[in-house]
Amino acid sequence: MKPYEATQPPQDYSRYMDLGEGWVDRRIFWDEAIYERELEAIFARCWQFVAHDSQLPNKGDFLTTYLGEDGVIVARHADGKVYAFLNACTHRGNKICFADEGNARRFNCNYHGWSFNTAGELTGLPNEAEAYDAGDIDKRQWGARQARVESYKGMIFATFDPSAPSLEDYLGDYRWYLDAFLDNDEGGIEFLPGTIKSYANANWKFGVENFIGDAYHAWWTHDSGGKAMMGGAFPAYDPTDTFHASVNGHGWEFALEGFGDIAILGSQEIIDYYTEIRPRMIERIGNLRAHIFGSLASAAMFPNMTFLPGIHTFRTWLPRGPRKLELRIWTVVPKDAPQSVKQAINKACNMTFNPAGTLEMDDGENWEGNTRTNAGWVSRHEKLHYGSGLSRRIEHPDLPGIVHKGQFNDANQRLFYQRWADLMNARTWADVPQRYTPRYAGRPTR
Ligand code: FES
Ligand SMILES: [Fe+2]
Repeated sequence: MKPYEATQPPQDYSRYMDLGEGWVDRRIFWDEAIYERELEAIFARCWQFVAHDSQLPNKGDFLTTYLGEDGVIVARHADGKVYAFLNACTHRGNKICFADEGNARRFNCNYHGWSFNTAGELTGLPNEAEAYDAGDIDKRQWGARQARVESYKGMIFATFDPSAPSLEDYLGDYRWYLDAFLDNDEGGIEFLPGTIKSYANANWKFGVENFIGDAYHAWWTHDSGGKAMMGGAFPAYDPTDTFHASVNGHGWEFALEGFGDIAILGSQEIIDYYTEIRPRMIERIGNLRAHIFGSLASAAMFPNMTFLPGIHTFRTWLPRGPRKLELRIWTVVPKDAPQSVKQAINKACNMTFNPAGTLEMDDGENWEGNTRTNAGWVSRHEKLHYGSGLSRRIEHPDLPGIVHKGQFNDANQRLFYQRWADLMNARTWADVPQRYTPRYAGRPTR
């Protein structure tokens, strides 16, 4: 796979922030030229979530999604492997698949009918004998552009950058945290069928940075939603045993009570299920992670995959220009749970975190406001404050990554923007600095 010729960074993006002082320049949420650079330096380079194994169980199963603004088809081919390739015809460039998901043997382009198989190879040209003489086309050279595909515990990721580090290295010690969600029981997780799509006139980074650790907004933005779901306000904030942890720009904000997020779902059946399996979970991933799971928590993997582990909502934030995003949402359930528990989770998850849910509705309007006010030239040139918890960094004997104490904190957001600037400033992956000492990189996390 030939790499693209990398562009020299047109400017120094570090000038848009001072994370030691705790501020970020508002132009990164608005400027078209900065967004264009993001498409190359972030989205054409980083590993991004494209599917879970449970969404593509059979040969021929496919779904369509995006890496940045590049449409991709993700399909399980006849050889059993998953391929991801550009959803664009190599003849004149039309989309080759307009469906969101399905099962297919091939994708036929609407325009002249070229066909591509589920591995992205060009397999058929209508009227080939009449249109093409010997030597006109070598079909093997004109398949759809392939992305690299690697998976971690059923989660399938893709990148168009052949020089990107392996997925395991890209995740690094974040795997230690991910396992608390993906691997806390033998069956792992399963994506329930159905994708919810919604759109907001907001910069994609506002959605991601909210999930990477903005517990601070929940008590205010979601006060009434929380009361409606739980019959009372959110639990009082307890600064002991709450943390922000960041690895390579990925973040997880959490408490250790093991209960808060599950309680928000408001279903005794779900609480009973997790109470029953907790001893098994402790045996599998240890006491610490068995209590990270389920506690009031939220998480994001750089650049645009986020989830609420105990609430079971999982989403990707697809950029549609600097001022618009497409949000895709799924409900994730423990695969080994009884059907009734899966249904209860699905119902509760959708009552809270779908576009009409009691908690989700509150957020979009705020992010649209954060973005829209930058239309003002003066506003756009101002700074935003990201200084909460500047001095709370700690070394923790058991928690990997860069750890800060406290749940109300901008630490993970600062480290997300640090990673953003590192990538924006890098011509290739070789220029991206490693900002912490890995503990688990290169070996299994349990
Ligand atoms: S554009 Fe696809 S066949 Fe011509
Ligand atoms: Fe929120």
